[in-house]
Amino acid sequence: MKAIEFDGVTVRFPTTRIPFVKEWIVRKFRGTATIDTFAALSDVSLDIEPGECLGLIGSNGAGKSTLLRVAAGVLTPSAGRAIVRGSVAPLIELGTGFDHELSGRENIFFNGALLGRSQRTMRARADEIIEFSGLAQFIDLPLRTYSTGMVARLAFSIATAVDAAVVLLDEILAVGDSSFREQCEERIRNFRESGCTILLVSHDLSEIEKLCDRAVFLEEGRIVAVGNPAEVIRAYGERSGSHELRHDRSLSPGVPD
Ligand SMILES: Nc1ncnc2c1ncn2[C@@H]1O[C@H](COP(=O)(O)OP(=O)(O)O)[C@@H](O)[C@H]1O
Ligand SMILES: [Mg+2]
Repeated sequence: MKAIEFDGVTVRFPTTRIPFVKEWIVRKFRGTATIDTFAALSDVSLDIEPGECLGLIGSNGAGKSTLLRVAAGVLTPSAGRAIVRGSVAPLIELGTGFDHELSGRENIFFNGALLGRSQRTMRARADEIIEFSGLAQFIDLPLRTYSTGMVARLAFSIATAVDAAVVLLDEILAVGDSSFREQCEERIRNFRESGCTILLVSHDLSEIEKLCDRAVFLEEGRIVAVGNPAEVIRAYGERSGSHELRHDRSLSPGVPD
């Protein structure tokens, strides 16, 4: 049984402003009452095995976050369907599910509630979450005083401490410092071993190659390549003449150009 099945998933968004009712009626009479749409995802079909770590790569606007939103059940496809088996811990974007006036500690409970976890469960997990986040000193300060990296630490620590079958990580690791990234990478590996399914969006291609069993290259809402991470990354590099890739290579010594 697959952990996630995307079957012909298409997501359309309106490109024109939704008209006011009055305008709509006028246009209806004129026969021009159509709303232009564009497809953020077009006919995406993909099966993901339990315990698989799948990397999603592609340029900005390629549809990566949209696909995660569909997996999280936040977005319903315009066509096709998505089946996700087991509970999902969506770390869709940084800052969602947090209240910046509450303290870090209060946000653990707030965010936990949004993920469908009880106060009692979160109380039992709070110490571990705080410890993993490395934010003990700051945990009772309001979240608005945190840096982006600190929020990412807290978010990752919560999302990965709630025993979800599926974890969705959207460009989260990039904002953490290197020691926290190492911690995260180790946790992601442990997840894989324990049979948890992970969808990881990252522009750090070396990270995708290091952590993922498979990668998917999305372009304009379509799957261009899927399979072995190194090969998919190569396809991405060739296709886009990617600046990111060149940039990455220049950063990692020992990788021939
Ligand atoms: N709620 C929305 N309404 C309209 N357009 C959207 C919405 N969400 C995403 N889009 C568009 O869909 C496309 C894909 O977006 P997204 O999935 O966020 O890309 P990525 O995460 O790969 O950078 C983009 O062109 C974006 O502008
Ligand atoms: Mg995105």
